[in-house]
Amino acid sequence: MSPPVAIEQNEELQETILKLANLKPLGQFRSQTQIETGPQIEWLEKVPEPTRKRFEKYGIDLSKGYPIIPENKDIPKFVDEAFEIRNSEYPYIERGKNADPEKKALFGAAKEVIDLTKHIGTEIVGLQLSDLDDKQKDELALLVAERVVVFFRDQDLSPQKQLELGEYWGQVERHPQAPHVPLPKKEGESDDIAKGSGISVIWRHFFNDFYGIKPSFKKGGISSGWHTDLVHEFQPAGITHLHNDTIPATGGDTAWSSGYAAYDKLSPAFQKFLDGKKAVYISAHAYLDRENPLQGPQRIEREHPIIRTHPTTGWKSLFVNRAMTKSIVGLEPEESKLILEYLFQVFEKNLDIQVRFHWQPTKEGFGTSAIWDNRISQHFAIGDYEVEDLRHGTRVTSLAEVPYFDESSKSQREALGLSLD
Ligand code: SIN
Repeated sequence: MSPPVAIEQNEELQETILKLANLKPLGQFRSQTQIETGPQIEWLEKVPEPTRKRFEKYGIDLSKGYPIIPENKDIPKFVDEAFEIRNSEYPYIERGKNADPEKKALFGAAKEVIDLTKHIGTEIVGLQLSDLDDKQKDELALLVAERVVVFFRDQDLSPQKQLELGEYWGQVERHPQAPHVPLPKKEGESDDIAKGSGISVIWRHFFNDFYGIKPSFKKGGISSGWHTDLVHEFQPAGITHLHNDTIPATGGDTAWSSGYAAYDKLSPAFQKFLDGKKAVYISAHAYLDRENPLQGPQRIEREHPIIRTHPTTGWKSLFVNRAMTKSIVGLEPEESKLILEYLFQVFEKNLDIQVRFHWQPTKEGFGTSAIWDNRISQHFAIGDYEVEDLRHGTRVTSLAEVPYFDESSKSQREALGLSLD
């Protein structure tokens, strides 16, 4: 997408548009407040104690402020600019693919491996993520591909190690707008438009101000809605690793729902109808349309298969989510709306394909990690805690392959020889 000739030629108009776009960074929500971009000095004193201790222990320099929001000049203002970020294929290694199917290195080192529900969610006890070798990381990627989400309590994990793990599983997403943890730039690292350390911040207390969300029992909060991360990317998110270092005693759970199982809930005739179809996916953050800036914030849009084959397991998964799937390609708008609504509900209403996790560690002073695969899941941050109930986490997302549908692939239940009724 390039700017139309008429706008390019009219410098005055171009300048006015840029001034408008620069008045404040465009946020996820239209009501974004007046928080300045850059390091957040006034938020330093509100950093929860366990988070501060973790950052101090691992030499994270908070002296300039926390968190860091990309500078206004570095935030893309127009949809075409944002669309161009990572807009072509780059190398990706599917780490789980060649792992030992029995996962002997990973399971052998763990004290316990607990499946939390039949269809989704496993907790590994007695292992530090920071100690894993490459064989164990491959086996963990395989386990995540099979079980959708894997949990580790009582972790002593530096943000740097968390980033390193993410980099092992794929290119780490650096968000052009999102608040992040400060890390010095590594040698040779490019200074492109998508700046940031790659470690984004999950901190509802801060988000309320940053995104202009009024704390509300009725509405929940940011991420309190079923969604999947970064579906608008050319190579959307694979593994996300959220490490919560500050966790309320009660509340602040997260739920995940399985895309494999959602596909298996559909009738063979409906599965056949969806196999090979594409949908339009949108970004969570918004930008201006250069050709029509006055129509307000717009989302990036991209097409991907609505049924994906997972490269590690070879199983089919339903790839939709209420927040960021706009339409099914080739259908009339009313047909698409009706079918998508049904598909969203399959994820949201079937409790037997969900897991809800309470993050509390068993040892004081430690954090808890959840590692999930966005290609085969949706998640929901349950906002049942007040601002005083502190919750803070750091998140790293590894981008995966260009999504594809292999028509010879099987559903999970078919592949495992389970009843399809
Ligand atoms: C997210 O949507 O990635 C955040 C989940 C959470 O805060 O539990």
